[in-house]
Amino acid sequence: MNKEKLDRLFSTLSFEEKVGQMIQLTGDFFNIDERIMETGPMKKLGLHDNFEPFNVGSVLNVTDSKNVVELQTEYLKRATHRIPLLFMADVIYGYKSIFPIPLAQTCSWNFDLIEKSAQVIAKECYDAGIHVTFSPMVDVARDARWGRVMESPGEDVLLAKKYAEHMVRGIQGNREMIGENHIAACVKHFAAYGAPTAGREYNSVDLSMTSLRNTYLPSYKAAMDAGVKLVMTAFNTLNGIPCTGNEWLNKELLRDEYDFEGVLISDYAAIEELKYHGYTANNQESAEKAIQSTVDIDMKTAIYANELKTLTEENPLLLQLVDESAYRVLTLKNDLGLFEDPYRGMKREAEAETSSFPREHIEAMEELARESIVLLKNADQLPLKKKKIALIGPYSKEKSVLGFWAITGDEEDAYSLYDGLTEFSDEENLGWDIEVASGAPLIQEKDFYQFGKYADRFVEETQSQEQLLAEALEIANASDIVLLALGESAYQSGEGGSRVNPSLPEHQIALLKELKKTGKPIILIVFSGRPLLLDKVVDEVEAIIYAWFPGTMSGKVLAEILSGKVNPSARLSMTFPRAVGQIPIYYSELSTGRPHERIEPYHRFASRYLDESNSPLFPFGFGLSYSQVEYTEMKAKEEAGKHYVTIQVRNTGVYPTKEVVQLYVQDKAASVVRPVKELRAFEKISLKPGETSEVAFELTDDLFSFIDNEGNEIVEAGEYILFIGQHALDDRFQLTVQR
Ligand code: IFM
Repeated sequence: MNKEKLDRLFSTLSFEEKVGQMIQLTGDFFNIDERIMETGPMKKLGLHDNFEPFNVGSVLNVTDSKNVVELQTEYLKRATHRIPLLFMADVIYGYKSIFPIPLAQTCSWNFDLIEKSAQVIAKECYDAGIHVTFSPMVDVARDARWGRVMESPGEDVLLAKKYAEHMVRGIQGNREMIGENHIAACVKHFAAYGAPTAGREYNSVDLSMTSLRNTYLPSYKAAMDAGVKLVMTAFNTLNGIPCTGNEWLNKELLRDEYDFEGVLISDYAAIEELKYHGYTANNQESAEKAIQSTVDIDMKTAIYANELKTLTEENPLLLQLVDESAYRVLTLKNDLGLFEDPYRGMKREAEAETSSFPREHIEAMEELARESIVLLKNADQLPLKKKKIALIGPYSKEKSVLGFWAITGDEEDAYSLYDGLTEFSDEENLGWDIEVASGAPLIQEKDFYQFGKYADRFVEETQSQEQLLAEALEIANASDIVLLALGESAYQSGEGGSRVNPSLPEHQIALLKELKKTGKPIILIVFSGRPLLLDKVVDEVEAIIYAWFPGTMSGKVLAEILSGKVNPSARLSMTFPRAVGQIPIYYSELSTGRPHERIEPYHRFASRYLDESNSPLFPFGFGLSYSQVEYTEMKAKEEAGKHYVTIQVRNTGVYPTKEVVQLYVQDKAASVVRPVKELRAFEKISLKPGETSEVAFELTDDLFSFIDNEGNEIVEAGEYILFIGQHALDDRFQLTVQR
């Protein structure tokens, strides 16, 4: 409807109806029993007696078009003014078609594929009647202890910005009004949720303004520049003030500086939690802080419902804020076309069709998974030449490969490694002779306290660990090669999945050590939601494939990689530590006054550890392929008044390959201390065997800029070192330039 009509409708709303638009509840309040995951406290909300659920503006995590139609129909019968209900859901990296987890996706460094995945997500949601997805999560994350690194774009600012931009574009389409096959995106969690102290979920965040502006804010800003319709607040405090009641953050920065005009929604129960932070004395104060900081929707608490009336009676100035919030929610509904069609083109048949994996969705999942799986080590055993294969490990037949936040996906649809290997071998006539044994449970009983109710299905009740091991050794001894599929369970990462010791489970390492004694070459395949500590296993195996959680097509794509049909091309988007005490470890650390490289070895007074080196086990940007790629001739070049740096890149191997050419910049001296280097540009190129390509990066201002404390992007005059290489620690090719 046009603005005039919308204004007219708005003018007819009562105060209670406006507040209704500012509340979000789960399906159970409408007798829809399809709650998929309670991600907050399960207590009764304590809504006031006259509360009318059929006037709330939105609902959370009701999915499946059948439920959506039922609820919308009932709702429209009962809601005054027949303002349609908004359906929002956590569809983070797949609705039915589940893509690799976001941390794996950014390892592809292929943002066109990521955008394609977002289009598939939007299409499947659209057909199911969902209007808003709580995606993308763009919290930069540098601490592998934090479980939600799996949902993050990783440690790097440039990758996080690109991820934000492409996800929003893929989900929403490139339009003001969100059109057919697209839905609204919600960027989260504003702000800096990815930097909790000690990696502990929901813990406080303390950051300097320089770090906030240069590292943590740019990805949210990129989502806004791409036109994202919603922003979700974060649970954490930021420099002492909880984000959900933080006027500076939400009003001054988000609304005034970033010009964000869309809907700001609280995270689950976060308004009520202002009290538990000790920031407000009671619920009324919590409501006041949230509305003052322009939070439009209260997700799953009774605070707005119960408190806004008295609050505005006591302070009528707040009425204006209520009006603005309710109006923003209605504008979103209008941008989605809900007033014209509350069911938004949703058709049960269409959902059935998209949910049964159309070919394009399968291809999109495969393409992204192929480029997200990282080859970390290969001592000449891959691609597989041997035919008699022992497939061992708790992930051999495990279908729980979708990762923690794939709550609408079905593990039964996923390819386990065994499914993938056997099907692929048949299809391609490879003649792989595969024997399979788990060798060990995925988790042990002593780990259960971490899981609560999620643990049960992983318990191997029928066999003792000795029996499992004996079986595994028997098939290993009879094989030519061992494919060993280990990892943490999907429930050990994700929200609420912080770990003090993010290593491979000890009992799985013990299995590896036993297998090692057989003398068979071991290819380790790791499933995980975070960079795990691999220090105890890296030298014990011939090859390591880091699969992350690759999604529905998992085993199929892994089979392609193992066979060599697909040449791995992923590069790490997060540094792998060699010791737990190094965490948080990331490549773009600030320079210190006593860098260890500058001070002779074994000098005590340098920035280093006594008992471990500073270097990671695998650096950011690192990843192998089955080819070798040679870099030569880094040069500065000027053409038509533009300045470039160029390099020759040659595939000297025998496989066609994809190479990620990375440009890092170091600012030699600046008015604030800058990182030792920062990724500022990259190109992913394809090279046939023997092919050489020149890669050129134009030296534009954005390669040299940073953000000052007032939010201005500035470039300071001086010397900069440019590095082109294969990962963040690759210093072979450098060039100094002046700005
Ligand atoms: O979208 C999520 C958020 O990321 C974490 N808390 C719950 C929300 C809704 O389920």
